[in-house]
Amino acid sequence: MSSKVTIMDVQKAKDEGRKLVMVTAYDYPFGLLADQAGVDIVLVGDSLGMVVMGLDGTVEVTMENMIHHTRAVVRGCKGPLVVGDMPFMSYNTSIRDAIVNAGRLMKEGGCDVIKLEGGVDFAPTIGAIVKAGIPVMGHIGLTPQTASALGGFKMQGRDTAAAKQIIEDARALQSAGVFSIILEAVPAPLGKLVAEAVKVPVIGIGAGVDVDGQVLVTHDMLGLFDKFVPKFVKQYSQIRTTIKEAITAYKQDVLDGSFPGPEHSFKMPEETLEQLKKEL
Ligand code: KIV
Repeated sequence: MSSKVTIMDVQKAKDEGRKLVMVTAYDYPFGLLADQAGVDIVLVGDSLGMVVMGLDGTVEVTMENMIHHTRAVVRGCKGPLVVGDMPFMSYNTSIRDAIVNAGRLMKEGGCDVIKLEGGVDFAPTIGAIVKAGIPVMGHIGLTPQTASALGGFKMQGRDTAAAKQIIEDARALQSAGVFSIILEAVPAPLGKLVAEAVKVPVIGIGAGVDVDGQVLVTHDMLGLFDKFVPKFVKQYSQIRTTIKEAITAYKQDVLDGSFPGPEHSFKMPEETLEQLKKEL
């Protein structure tokens, strides 16, 4: 068994110039596969709402959904640092609510650390959660929970003022005590500037190559999510086709009687069967 990745290991990776590898998972088998592939960090993202629950966005995802799925992932993930994602409105209403819900995600979900979306405005909330003893990963740039307020799922930091704001957000999060930051959907040169602006690792998703690590939504990179493929996703598989072919083949076998075969069936001694028939 590999040893557990800690937040100190995550910082060490940046200090030593080693890229961090992070993926999402929402259940035990994917948690286990990510563990076996040897990634550093597994995020139980609220992207759950879209790629697993079939919702249009992440806004409807609840604390109960996140706790349920986090518990499953944690059972498979012995090595990677497991990040539980705080759903919309679990940390936006008050600092007290934020601490209570972050605590629930750790105590009931079993994750190692939590993540929440937001820049400068959320620095006080993050500071309070960190002071309560819960490590926090920040998330800036495109923040899917508030995508409608940002004008949709669009690249952020388009002009000088917006790009400067993202750097300010990263600095504010670092001062508040985050141990790392997710940076989503910004121009690659801005990704580099953000990673250089802070000491904590900046993990990009659509932020170019010059950041301290990468994260992808597993269902996107495996070709499992059917609705759209964001520009920043590289598809490493078309697993939907493989799964669909397998289910179709099974259907055919059931219909034509070739499944189950003798190798999938339980035997009964001949004499037991004869006796049974006599007694019927
Ligand atoms: O919920 C999620 O999967 C995320 C990633 C996009 C980083 O926040």
